[in-house]
Amino acid sequence: MNKQVTILAIESSCDETSAAVVVNGCQILSCIVSSQIPIHQRFGGVVPEIAARAHVEQINTVIEQALCAAYPIIKPREALIKEIDYLAVTHGPGLIGSLLVGVNAAKTLSMVFNKPLIPVNHILGHVYSNFLQEQENKCEMRNAKCKSIENTNYNNSSDTLHSAFCILHSPFITLVASGGHTDLILTKGHNNHQLIAQTRDDAAGEAFDKAAQLLSLSYPGGPSIAKSAINGNPEIYNLPRGLSKIHTLDFSFSGLKTALSQLINEKRKSNINIPTIAPDLASSFQESIIDSLVSKTVQAAIKYDVKNIFLAGGVAANTRLRTEFANTASLNNLIFHAPLIEYCTDNAAMIGAAAYGSVLLKHYESCYDVNVTREAELKL
Ligand code: KG4
Ligand code: ZN
Repeated sequence: MNKQVTILAIESSCDETSAAVVVNGCQILSCIVSSQIPIHQRFGGVVPEIAARAHVEQINTVIEQALCAAYPIIKPREALIKEIDYLAVTHGPGLIGSLLVGVNAAKTLSMVFNKPLIPVNHILGHVYSNFLQEQENKCEMRNAKCKSIENTNYNNSSDTLHSAFCILHSPFITLVASGGHTDLILTKGHNNHQLIAQTRDDAAGEAFDKAAQLLSLSYPGGPSIAKSAINGNPEIYNLPRGLSKIHTLDFSFSGLKTALSQLINEKRKSNINIPTIAPDLASSFQESIIDSLVSKTVQAAIKYDVKNIFLAGGVAANTRLRTEFANTASLNNLIFHAPLIEYCTDNAAMIGAAAYGSVLLKHYESCYDVNVTREAELKL
C-alpha cells in the first residue's frame, strides 16, 4: 500500500469525548480530547447517564476542532470531503450510552460524506496506542528498537510510515491496564489478538480509584495515588499481591483494596491521622499493583516465548510502573515498549491507529452494519 491513508477517528466509550486525524496508523495530525473528569470528580467515579449527556454536548465541537487542527486552511467540511479516506469509531466495550453518541456521530458522517466506517475495539485501540507518534514523516516506535524493519513486507524504504507496524511481524504481549480492564493480550498480526489473562475482579485503574477514595485523594485515583506515593516509603506496609501464589497469569486486586481499607480502619482506631501516613500507604499500595502487573506480564512473555512486551491503558501513564517494567524487561532480555504518556488514557488517535490495521486487512463494513456491541469484549 503506497498511498497515505488518512483516518478521522472518534472515541466516546467512557468519559472522554475525542476525535483525531491519523495518517497511516501512526502519524497524528490532530487529537482533541474533551475530558469529563471535572464533571464526575464530585461523584468519585463516572456516572454513565451524565457521561452520555456530556458526550452529546461535546461531540460535534470535538470533531470540528480535530479537523480544523489537522487542516487549518480549509473548512472542516472540505477536509472531510478531500482529505479523509476512512472514518473509525469505538464500538465497544464501554458504557452503552456513551458509545452510542460516538457511533451515531460516525455513522452520520459516513453516510453524508460517503466514507467507509471502521468499527474499533477499544481495548485494541489501547494496544495500538504504542504505534502513535507526533513527529511528521518519522514513524519509529517510541522506546522501541524496531530492528525487524528490514525483514518486513514493508521493506520499501520510502514507505517509512508503514515501518511502525513492523513489530506486528513478530508476536508481542500487551498489558492493557485501564479503569475497566486489566488484560494480557498476545498479538500475532492485525487480525490475531488473543486474550491470555485478565483480572478476576477489579481492574488495576479501578483499584487505584477506590484506594484514592479510601485515602480521601481526588479522582481519578491513579494520578493522585502516584503523586502522594512520591513522598512515601513503599516498604512500610506489606500489602498483598493478588494471585501471586497460585499458578495463573490472571490478576486480582480486590483483596488488596480490602487490605488497605482494613489497615486504614486499624490506624484510625489507634488515633493515627490518616493524611500524615497517606504517602506511605499510597506508595505501598502502588508497589503492590506494580509488582503484580510487571511479574505476570514477564511470566506471560516467558510462557509464550515472546520477546516484545507492550504496556497500554490509563495505568500505563504511571511513571513508576514504566520504570519498573523497563528494568525487569531488561533483566529478562525482553524489549519493553510504552505509548507516549498523553496517549495512555482514552483518546481517538489510538482508535485511528487500530483502524489502520483493519485498512491493511481490508476489513471494514457498511456504516449500516456498525453498531455498539457487547461482543467487543475479547474472549479467553
Ligand atoms: O484507559 P483509561 O483512560 O480509561 C479506561 O478505558 O478505563 O484509564 C483510566 C484509568 C483510571 O482508573 C485512572 O485512575 C488510571 O487510568 N490512571 C492511572 C494514572 N493515570 C490514569 N493509574 C495509575 N497511575 C497513573 N498515573
Ligand atoms: Zn480505555
